[in-house]
Amino acid sequence: MANVAVIGAQWGDEGKGKVVDWLASRADIVVRFQGGHNAGHTLVVGEQTYKLSLLPSGVVRGKLGVIGNGVVLDPEALLAEIARVSAQGLSVTPANLRIAENVPLILPVHPALDKAREAARGEARIGTTGRGIGPAYEDKVARRAIRLSDLAEPELLSRKLDELLLHHNTLLRGLGADTFGKQDLLDRLLALAPRLLPFAEPVWERLDEAHHSGKRVLFEGAQAVMLDVDHGTYPYVTSSNTVAGNAAAGAGVGPKQIGYVLGIAKAYTTRVGSGPFPTELHDEIGRRLGERGHEFGTVTGRPRRCGWFDACMVRQAVKVGGVEGLVLTKLDVLDGLRTLKLCTGYRIDGEVVRRLPASVAVQERAEPVWEEMEGWSGSTRGARSYAELPAEAVKYVRRIEELVEAPVVLLSTSPERDDTIVLRDPFAG
Ligand code: IMP
Repeated sequence: MANVAVIGAQWGDEGKGKVVDWLASRADIVVRFQGGHNAGHTLVVGEQTYKLSLLPSGVVRGKLGVIGNGVVLDPEALLAEIARVSAQGLSVTPANLRIAENVPLILPVHPALDKAREAARGEARIGTTGRGIGPAYEDKVARRAIRLSDLAEPELLSRKLDELLLHHNTLLRGLGADTFGKQDLLDRLLALAPRLLPFAEPVWERLDEAHHSGKRVLFEGAQAVMLDVDHGTYPYVTSSNTVAGNAAAGAGVGPKQIGYVLGIAKAYTTRVGSGPFPTELHDEIGRRLGERGHEFGTVTGRPRRCGWFDACMVRQAVKVGGVEGLVLTKLDVLDGLRTLKLCTGYRIDGEVVRRLPASVAVQERAEPVWEEMEGWSGSTRGARSYAELPAEAVKYVRRIEELVEAPVVLLSTSPERDDTIVLRDPFAG
């Protein structure tokens, strides 16, 4: 049995929550390998709706959740999330959650710097979630991050905080923001230590053991390929690698263990935050997609920008992200539209290209090359087989497969977990 990695193939919010939940029920272990509490997944299980940011989705299905070293972990946000789901009757203990001992922590200085920098950028702001994700990753690569294991070493922690605060307070002061005192931070972290350290372990060992005993592992991506720090619409991206290749480094397993790579894409496109969006709609259709698709950010509540499906961009995400099969979500949101448009390439400075170039200035100038398709009058909502779909909807899906050069293996037709058309079991390898 293969493992599976799930990543977003657009700009996030593709409906990963439902798909990951569906897959988690077939897995033994669910691993988060990048991002932090900037992500937001909504899972509906029976009467309960769980809103998860950091906890791997598997924990609500009675599976072992693992937070890998590639994540940036806000300890207070994690404990608050655990308290929230506990109030809903879901107990999270070291029996069902394990955290990489080498995971870097998000400290209160990080959201403070994130917000101060966004404010200073003014109109040029990235539109971050303000959770301190970028500054925490910066500290990791600058080799000054506080890692979970440091909480067990008060003297080391104290020394590391000196270095970290020298850097951050200088920046915060320069930006006119409040600075942080060391003793206060040290006390806060030491108070959290006994609640967090029981979850810490070298998770690579557990995953190695899982590999040898034939357990199924699901690697749960957050954000999406077009928000990848290298391959996305830089600088309007998140600060981690969101491509499937990072599941290995971000969990501590070899690249061959990632298994089958599933990419998730909506049947149209949305984006939160700033940055280029060639197929964005500023008209009635865009508003309709937003309303029918309930397009508001799970984490920040911001309305999402909406547009037509960008097959050129998803094709690129398929290639750089290593996507082998695609999950198409929210097809039902297109029900009743007379004509649909697909973007097959971009016209840039008089030339037609089939890729989104690296320069953000060029991306802003990219004009979509459209292909029009007939819409459908019937409903796709709740369909559980191709036979239940209107012929035009099947044609739309088939055309997307051709354009993005990947097969659609799952089709989601409503928020209900079982309203899914399964064309291939991703765990079959
Ligand atoms: P950051 O990850 O908070 O630094 O935000 C950087 C960019 O990624 C912003 O445009 C955010 O809106 C976007 N972003 C971060 N997390 C998500 C997510 O889970 N879904 C969609 N967009 C996200």
